[in-house]
Amino acid sequence: MTATLTERSEGTAAHKGFNPKRKLENRDRAAVVGVKSNVTIVGARGTVRNNVLALAHLLQEASRVVRHNIIICGASALTSVKIASVVGARPQFIKAAPVSREIRQHHEEILVHTGQHYDESMSDVFFEVLDMPRPDYNLGVGSASHSRQTAEMMHGLEDVFEREKPDLVLVYGDTNSTLAGALVASKMGRPLGHVEAGLRSFNRSMPEEINRVVADHLSALLFCPTQTAVDNLVKEGISRGVHLVGDVMYDVALQSAQAARSRDILQRFGVRKGEYILVTLHRPASVDDRETLAGIVEALVRSGRTVVFPIHPRTRKNLEAFGLWEPLRAKVKAIEPVDYLDFIALLMGASKVVTDSGGVQKEAYFFGVPCITLRDETEWIETVEDGWNALVGTDTADILDAIEKFNPSGTKSKSFGDGHAAEKIALILDKFV
Ligand code: UD1
Ligand code: UDP
Repeated sequence: MTATLTERSEGTAAHKGFNPKRKLENRDRAAVVGVKSNVTIVGARGTVRNNVLALAHLLQEASRVVRHNIIICGASALTSVKIASVVGARPQFIKAAPVSREIRQHHEEILVHTGQHYDESMSDVFFEVLDMPRPDYNLGVGSASHSRQTAEMMHGLEDVFEREKPDLVLVYGDTNSTLAGALVASKMGRPLGHVEAGLRSFNRSMPEEINRVVADHLSALLFCPTQTAVDNLVKEGISRGVHLVGDVMYDVALQSAQAARSRDILQRFGVRKGEYILVTLHRPASVDDRETLAGIVEALVRSGRTVVFPIHPRTRKNLEAFGLWEPLRAKVKAIEPVDYLDFIALLMGASKVVTDSGGVQKEAYFFGVPCITLRDETEWIETVEDGWNALVGTDTADILDAIEKFNPSGTKSKSFGDGHAAEKIALILDKFV
């Protein structure tokens, strides 16, 4: 028996009077994809095994509840679309990993790496440890001034979108790769989705703030990690397409914690759990000015603590140029950037974290490690409100004081979702497309 789809039913099969979710996990959900006279067509998504289970269950339920013929179709009965995901910098590989996994359950994903980060330790290792598909395209853009770098990315992305004709473009976070993806998608009339929408530092001297604002104002779908992010968007007049899904970095952190525990990086660097401070730095405001960077190095050296410092290439370059590399190395375990699992292992073992990173502030919070942030403001205000993050700026004495005295102990609210943000994004994409 065949039937033509004349009507696409929104929502899940529950919408039609039966509830496939009752015995199935969220990811195995099935949907009624078409209804014509007395014929219902059902399709399912998920792995092949899960599809079979979902369909069997649906058939059983549906024949009892809906008194008409059921036609079973495979996942292809659901509208599958082409989504182009644009990534380019270290934190974006981490954010894209769980989302990519989810959207590939049902849709075609074209993964585009702009090449903003290119060292093996800043790029390739993440695809390996996070078990991500290799990029379909690497634009190889590399480093340059902001405008040149963004323009190069736009050039390359236009060619890719022209060729692939994606139904939707997905961008992550707030880097120049995010900005380029957002602008090109909009110029080419492709709907845009922004993962980690609504974050604001209210500091327009940060390049990231410009990138976020532009991406948010161009997006049809805005996936917010926190209620604060939703509120920020409302204040800017954006409420359509806004979804509070939770933080995809929380998803990855939960999924990776066990694997990270089995890493031996503490032994490799000769440090013991709870007996060292972990440091990361890469923001222009902390590392591009000699005096500021020298003040931070002085605080680390004078702290008298064991310090483990995986050094971002931007920071390494500046430490060397400013003549600070040797004094730092004499007192601090200055190491190459590490892969995500090693970093989480180092983080879980640290007594405190000193950082200017956005992602690391959150990860410290997830794992209950006191965080000393070398900035005057943060987008992740919940970590400060809950008492686990101290904003101390870059003054040497203030950093030393915080290393000595900052010892939070309060409970942590669940401000970053339930660890299923990526699944929620995939569900919303299903309906949108
Ligand atoms: C970029 C993002 C920032 C994000 C950070 C994550 C922008 C404007 N900035 O900052 O939001 O927090 O990534 O890490 O998009 N370099 C290498 N090898 C690499 C990558 C960079 O040597 O693989 C060096 C180059 O000298 C380059 C410098 O680092 O000029 C800065 O790289 P860039 O991507 O421009 O900015 P980030 O500081 O990494
Ligand atoms: N990270 C890593 N190895 C390192 C340092 C950081 O895997 O040596 C991870 C860290 O776990 C976090 C992310 O990189 O998830 C943060 O990236 P970064 O600080 O470069 O950028 P930001 O989050 O500030 O945009």
